[in-house]
Amino acid sequence: MPLIGVIGCGRVGVSAAIQIALKDLGDLVLVDIVQGLPQGEALDLSHMASILGIDVEITGSNDYRDISGADLAVITAGVVRKADMTRMDLLQKNTAIVSDVSEKVREYAPNSKVIVVTNPLDVMTYVALRKTGFERERVIGFSGLLDFGRFRYLVAKELGVSRSSIVGPIIGEHGDNMVLLPRLTHVLGKPLTSLLPREKIGELVERTRRAGAEVISLKGWSASHAPGAGVALMVEAILKDTDAVIPSSVYLRGEYGVEGVCSVVPAVLGLSGVKRVIELDLDDYERREFLKSVEVVRQAQEAADKLLH
Ligand code: APR
Repeated sequence: MPLIGVIGCGRVGVSAAIQIALKDLGDLVLVDIVQGLPQGEALDLSHMASILGIDVEITGSNDYRDISGADLAVITAGVVRKADMTRMDLLQKNTAIVSDVSEKVREYAPNSKVIVVTNPLDVMTYVALRKTGFERERVIGFSGLLDFGRFRYLVAKELGVSRSSIVGPIIGEHGDNMVLLPRLTHVLGKPLTSLLPREKIGELVERTRRAGAEVISLKGWSASHAPGAGVALMVEAILKDTDAVIPSSVYLRGEYGVEGVCSVVPAVLGLSGVKRVIELDLDDYERREFLKSVEVVRQAQEAADKLLH
């Protein structure tokens, strides 16, 4: 049975653990700095698994030694942005946390693949890459599935077709500068651009960008169920070596003409992590939008670099 460490046992970490357990993907170790929290969540989740007849081992710990030998580490540790925090405040706080966690992962699970979920996502993926020292194929940022899932939800409603019939890519930053690609989004071969008027597509893209904020304004805290589901799909692709093409934040080394920045791109995921980055044929407008988005991440990475030693 593979061993999966979930670091950060808050809302997103627990939701990811639930979805991973339901898919029976491996044994789980939950780690958090709060005493009792990971142990309590692990016990509750073990009872859940018992009711459902799923024989995964779920334990909780405040000690990183318990992730020793993990095949996969999912990093959700961090603070969530509050109303009085700037983006820079968040970057500073979470850079410190993800840096610390990454060092522990390097020490105790040196052969693991890492899925980063903490925001700001692309920069935290970069921080984890730097601080684990792992090759880029093993440090993979979440979020593409979340943003595309939100878009797909809106498009499916608009078109009156099943959500699963809508496929398409998403690239760029996880955040205000995400790049959805309606021209390359299809319903069984029919591009979205031929199914909906331009203005309507623009509206759905805008709503997707604001979806995270919409969730917060309604329920009072940030999304967790949707991220949890997406993380479990990535864990499944890696541990079952499915070669699923999943939008993931990857440190680019020349792909799309970009060097040294983490950005969401379509990636083939399997046992070794990112097996391949797929380069889409972007038109001039799409390429400009993508490069603008990448530039935002590059600047944030430079800010993070100054905080790391
Ligand atoms: N090591 C381990 N756990 C930590 C550390 C650390 N150094 N620092 C903080 N944590 C834990 C907290 O104790 C808390 O239990 O991380 C958890 C974060 O949980 P929540 O506050 O509930 O935040 P959550 O909604 O889960 O979001 C976590 O995921 O989607 C992103 O934007 C989100 O960056 C945020 C992260």
